[in-house]
Amino acid sequence: MAEWVSGNQSVRIIENKEIASGIYSLKLNAPEIAAASSSGQFINLYLENGLNLLPRPISIADADAGKGIVTLVFAVVGSGTEIIAGFKEGKIVRVLGPLGKGYDLEFAAGRSVLLVGGGLGIPPLAYAARGLNALPDTKVTAILGYRDDAFYSNEFKDFTDAVYAISETDGAVDIKFGQTGNVIDLLDHIDKNNAMIFSCGPAPMLKAVYDWADARGIPTQLSLEARMGCGYGVCVGCTVRIREKSGAIIRRKVCAAGPVFKGDELVWK
Ligand SMILES: Cc1cc2nc3c(=O)[nH]c(=O)nc-3n(C[C@H](O)[C@H](O)[C@H](O)COP(=O)(O)OP(=O)(O)OC[C@H]3O[C@@H](n4cnc5c(N)ncnc54)[C@H](O)[C@@H]3O)c2cc1C
Ligand code: FES
Repeated sequence: MAEWVSGNQSVRIIENKEIASGIYSLKLNAPEIAAASSSGQFINLYLENGLNLLPRPISIADADAGKGIVTLVFAVVGSGTEIIAGFKEGKIVRVLGPLGKGYDLEFAAGRSVLLVGGGLGIPPLAYAARGLNALPDTKVTAILGYRDDAFYSNEFKDFTDAVYAISETDGAVDIKFGQTGNVIDLLDHIDKNNAMIFSCGPAPMLKAVYDWADARGIPTQLSLEARMGCGYGVCVGCTVRIREKSGAIIRRKVCAAGPVFKGDELVWK
């Protein structure tokens, strides 16, 4: 499927490593994608096994343009990701990307950016942290919520002013406030001066983050997940409702207009 799509290419797997239970870090030798990517974008990974016809969309967790390496972090949740978890170093896979519209780093310059991540939404925010770290006068704080083990906090340490992680159970290694809980419990303790939020994670968490920020007048950019077909704007399988400035409500494609949207343009009810 989709052989004709411009940019569709075969790339080599450099590493596929389980970094936490059922969670894998997949490194691809993909110089063109690494050079063109920005944080918040994703790639399509095609399985080409004759059974799983639709590509699997996975966010870019890092793109090193110098080395030509793209890193993805994914969880095994079904048949497709189970197959990807079995891919070995050296295997050639077909990918398309970078896809979608990512975070607006320009808007973040000079602000105090709170990176609020939940679960598998955390790795793509580490990529955002690297970009934000290069901006002048920009403070970056990571606020990370895990179900159990804090499997990705270390990736933020060199690119942020502070990292706070919390776990719903008791596995987070660097809980700073309270005992267990979620990202909203952490946000309540954070300095909100000149703040804005980049967030990625499960839909209920994004809604809670938006409500918390909206009540305090803090702008948000939220990375949405939607069931996707093509991943590049053709099948109309992934729409979300947006409120335009005029007040009109329209549908936009998450894969093409997003996956990152401003929180206040989304229709939440
Ligand atoms: C923009 C975007 C970025 C994503 N980034 C990541 C990431 O960085 N790490 C990660 O672990 N997961 C990510 N996901 C979710 C990931 O795409 C799904 O977990 C994966 O497609 C499931 O495939 P499966 O065959 O294992 O599961 P199955 O449930 O067997 O999948 C069946 C079908 O549904 C689609 N599908 C299933 N779940 C999702 C989903 N949540 N979103 C979109 N399509 C889905 C699959 O493409 C497939 O066509 C992302 C999804 C989107 C839309
Ligand atoms: S997934 Fe096909 S239009 Fe978005």
